[in-house]
Amino acid sequence: MSAATRPDWLSIRADFPVLTRQVHGKPLVYLDSANTSQKPQSVIRAVDAFYREHNANVSRAVHALGSEATEAYEGARGKLAAFLNVPANELVLTSGTTFALNLVAYSFALPRLQAGDAILLTRMEHHANIVPWQLVAERTGAVIKVVEITPEGALDLDDLRAKLTGDVKILAFTHVSNVLGTVNPVAEICREARKRGVITVVDGSQATPHRAVDIPALGCDFYAFTGHKMLGPTGTGGLWAKREHLKAMPPFLGGGEMIKEVRFEKTTYNDPPHKFEAGTPNIAGVVGLGTAVDYLQAIGMAEIEAREQALLRMAEARLSAIPGLRMFGTAPGKAAVISFLVEGAHAHDLATLLDLEGIAVRSGHHCAHPLMAHFGVPATCRASLAFYNTHVEVEALGDAIEKVRKLLA
Ligand SMILES: Cc1ncc(COP(=O)(O)O)c(C=O)c1O
Repeated sequence: MSAATRPDWLSIRADFPVLTRQVHGKPLVYLDSANTSQKPQSVIRAVDAFYREHNANVSRAVHALGSEATEAYEGARGKLAAFLNVPANELVLTSGTTFALNLVAYSFALPRLQAGDAILLTRMEHHANIVPWQLVAERTGAVIKVVEITPEGALDLDDLRAKLTGDVKILAFTHVSNVLGTVNPVAEICREARKRGVITVVDGSQATPHRAVDIPALGCDFYAFTGHKMLGPTGTGGLWAKREHLKAMPPFLGGGEMIKEVRFEKTTYNDPPHKFEAGTPNIAGVVGLGTAVDYLQAIGMAEIEAREQALLRMAEARLSAIPGLRMFGTAPGKAAVISFLVEGAHAHDLATLLDLEGIAVRSGHHCAHPLMAHFGVPATCRASLAFYNTHVEVEALGDAIEKVRKLLA
């Protein structure tokens, strides 16, 4: 790519109003994008414009605003589907990954599993990809099995193959770890699972904001993602599922929009994906998410990934030079998430003192208790980068950790 067409990262950063803020009298350094991403002006404007100019419910009214709202909502579904390279009628819009995974657990797994079956998860799952399966296991008598990780935080693929035994019916795993940054070889894992007739459920929460995701190329059965981590509003996201699954699955929630005809004797349901979208959805949010997809695509996912990798390399080099700093997750090809601890300091103290320096990192268990237990720590600090971060901010993180380390020593 020529210099003329290369993204201008500083002007891109200027699209994010909140990044001009000061906190505690210091310029905000926002390093918590794995938690939620910041929003560009175009997304904020799209939500604002929807309420100012087009607000109406979807798929209900014949009046002009009703048609405009439906068009905007379905248009956003189309953009998301194209972004993930799937047909729009296979994309269920949800409030996020948590809802999407619960939908698979309750609507797909619950009616199919029985005592003696197993659900295979991994050590690096977010609670959203653990607890729904436990709830289903409790009700069906199925058991949960867990694939372990290597010392660098990669999935142990030998362990995975060994645990893909005949009793395993579902394998649910993350595309990218929210704590370690590990990028799992989804296509390879799904191939192994398919050979054994195992259904695959992929948590794409930390992948869709940071890399091109071509769902058909992954070969999974279900793929869940969340909108607020990919520049969209909170309360948006989706679930892609193979058409055959969507047809076979009973609805998860009942109500308006998801029906064809309701009689007291029997109700017939709408076709997928609407069958799974009961009630008034987050229309303005979805419209904003469609605009977020436009924004990501205008930059290009390959450009975004390369930018974040460059920031990651710099951050890893800077942080590994700090005495007593331990990083969790060093798998090759990892995403721009750095979990760390500084000897003698509690994660929350570290994060609190970093906040006073204007630096926003997350501290805690990151909704990954089993992973924390594996490392024998209650919590870590996590700096998660996005393309709108800068090299100056990475340097500021390093400087602030060094300062805080001395204060806590
Ligand atoms: C890997 C992973 N899975 C699932 C979730 C849950 O996403 P949401 O709260 O948007 O449903 C998150 C959010 O932190 C995540 O990082």
